[in-house]
Formats: sequence, C-alpha cells, structure tokens
Amino acid sequence: MLKDQFGRQVDYIRVSLTDRCNLRCRYCMPEGCVNFMAHDEILRVEETARLCAIFAKLGVSKFKITGGEPFVYQGVMPFLRSLRENDRIDQVTITTNGVTLERYLPELVELNINGLNISLDTLQPETFKQLTGADVHDRVMQSIAAAARTSIPVKLNCLPIQGINTHELAEIAALAQYDVAAVRFIELMPIGMGETFAGIPTQQLISQMADYYGDLQPYDQPLGNGPAVYYSVPGFNGKLGFINAISQCFCEGCNRVRLTSDGYLKLCLAFEEGIDLKTPLRNGASDEELSAIIADAVYHKPKEHDFNRLIREKKRSMHRVGG
Ligand code: GTP
Ligand code: 5AD
Ligand code: SF4
Repeated sequence: MLKDQFGRQVDYIRVSLTDRCNLRCRYCMPEGCVNFMAHDEILRVEETARLCAIFAKLGVSKFKITGGEPFVYQGVMPFLRSLRENDRIDQVTITTNGVTLERYLPELVELNINGLNISLDTLQPETFKQLTGADVHDRVMQSIAAAARTSIPVKLNCLPIQGINTHELAEIAALAQYDVAAVRFIELMPIGMGETFAGIPTQQLISQMADYYGDLQPYDQPLGNGPAVYYSVPGFNGKLGFINAISQCFCEGCNRVRLTSDGYLKLCLAFEEGIDLKTPLRNGASDEELSAIIADAVYHKPKEHDFNRLIREKKRSMHRVGG
C-alpha cells in the first residue's frame, strides 16, 4: 500500500491521457494558440497501461481517467480495456466533456465502467458556444441523455461562474430530479485560466438551492471517491453535490495522485512540480525500479496545497493535469 509521510494512504489515481481537448473552455485554456505537447512526449497506450499496472500492484485500486478530453486520445478504448483486465483494479471512472461520448457508450457499458462525470456548465447553446468556443451543446445534451439511460452512474459537473451561468444554476440542479445520480457544483480554482473568472462560494449556492427546492439534507453515504459533499433534496432521485475546492481544505484526507499524459507523477493538483516517470520508463527501468521511484515520491506528497503560490507563479494548465 502506498503511504505518505503523514500517514495518508494513496489508493486513487487520476490519469490524464492527453492534454488535448475538442473544447476551449475559457476558464481552462487560454484563447488563441495553445501549446499542446508533441505526440512523442505523450505516453503511448502500452506505456500508460504499464505504469497503471505498477500503480495497481502498489495498492492503487481506483482509477479516474481524464484529459484534456480523454475521448480525443486515440487509444482510449484499448487503454480502458487494459485496466478492466487487471484484477487489482476495482473502479474505473471517466471525466469527460461529453462531446463525443455518445458513440462510446455501448462499449463503456460492456467494459462495466463504474462512473461517468460529464461537464455541463450551461443549458443555453449560445452560452455554451461563448464559453467553450464550439457550437456542440446539442451533442453534449444527447450524450448526457444517452448516458443516463445506461447502467453507468452519471454525475454532472457544473462550474458556476459569475456573469455567465449564475442565473441558470437552479435549472441545472433540476437535472438531478430524475435523470442523473448527482449534479455537482464546483468552486472555481485559480488554476489554468480560472484566475480570470469569479466562482460562487458553496454556502451561497446551498442557500440559493434551498430557496428553490426546500431544505437540503446532508447525505453521508459514499458517492464516488472525490472531495464532493452531497445533499438529498426533497423530491429528487439524484443528489446535489458541492466541491468546495476553495472554502474547505480537503488535503488532510487526500487519497490521490495524478499521472500526466507525458508521464509525470503529480503529487498534488496545486503543485507545479512532478516526478518524471517517462525517462526511466523509456530508458528500460524494470517494474521494481519504477515501483521504488513511485513509492519514494508518494512518501513525499506535500501536506497541503498552496493556490496562492500558483497564482504568484502564474503556472499550471488545468487541461494538462485533468482536474
Ligand atoms: P468522483 O466523485 O469519484 O467521480 O471524483 P471527482 O469528483 O474527484 O471527479 P471529477 O473528475 O469529476 O472532478 C471534479 C472536480 O473536483 C474537478 O474540478 C477537479 O479538479 C476537482 N478535484 C478532484 N480532485 C481534487 C483534489 O484533490 N483537490 C482539489 N482541490 N480539487 C480536486
Ligand atoms: N476550477 C475548478 N474546476 C475546474 N474545471 C476545469 N477548470 C477548473 C477550475 N479552474 C473542471 C471542469 C470539469 C472538471 C474536470 O474540472 O469544469 O468539470
Ligand atoms: Fe476541455 Fe475540460 Fe478544459 Fe473544457 S475544462 S477545455 S472540456 S479540458
């Protein structure tokens, strides 16, 4: 089992398959030309799969697949299959923008994927176009509807942003009435271009939701492996979730590390530094050697994040690390 010097056990990894994306959410990527990584910098399917198998052997049993957008990575399905063939891995979940998701659903069901988180910041096609640069809101809505009809639990991720979608949050929350396991609202982090927008504090949102839908009751059953806090709402099948990335520090119970698509192990979302696994991997390191590098790195996982330092240093692209 991987453990850090503060006794936290790491059993969850977020694997970013690519830094590329078919959207350009304004809070995530800069406008204009984005410096994506060169193809040979990005790990090939066999390389990522090998590292994941090593993590699994070290006791990591929950895998979240992210991007960029994971479904723009050519080898995404063979990669998911490799995870599914590994008995040590209990859970494989995916976070996606939903643009091309619909066509993959039958295979994702067959692979028994444990969860799909789909981003949905707006119900308005025009706002979607302004926010993401692409006129594909209908495709995202179709993917959400189709995913909600499968056996895979679906959660929606909404990033409330002042002046952009704040007037439609109650309507977005209402999607938890019937169709999806949860609608989650995320506090905007000063990562990527997040710093240039203003989010909404969770407490404010909770009282706004209570005004619309009646008192929210805390829901304390586990609903995933992330930091979200969930509430039941009178008359809703699904839950409302809140990811208090700013107002609540969840570092003390942090169970996760991240693998970037160019093979760096990131010990914390809010730290720029990473441990290079690609160079030893490509230089012929054995599984034992890679395991030792990983175990030593995890031991030194930072105690907590420091968003202020990130702001000062103006670093970190969200699309490179996958949230
Ligand atoms: P599940 O509930 O298990 O599906 O996981 P999740 O909520 O972690 O998954 P998702 O990929 O949907 O992430 C939702 C939001 O939580 C994104 O904005 C992530 O950046 C944020 N997030 C995930 N892990 C962390 C973390 O360790 N620290 C911080 N600050 N934010 C995180
Ligand atoms: N702060 C919080 N969440 C963010 N996401 C992207 N950028 C940020 C940010 N700066 C969210 C996306 C997606 C999830 C993977 O991360 O909206 O739902
Ligand atoms: Fe793509 Fe997600 Fe960034 Fe939007 S937030 S540009 S969907 S990686």
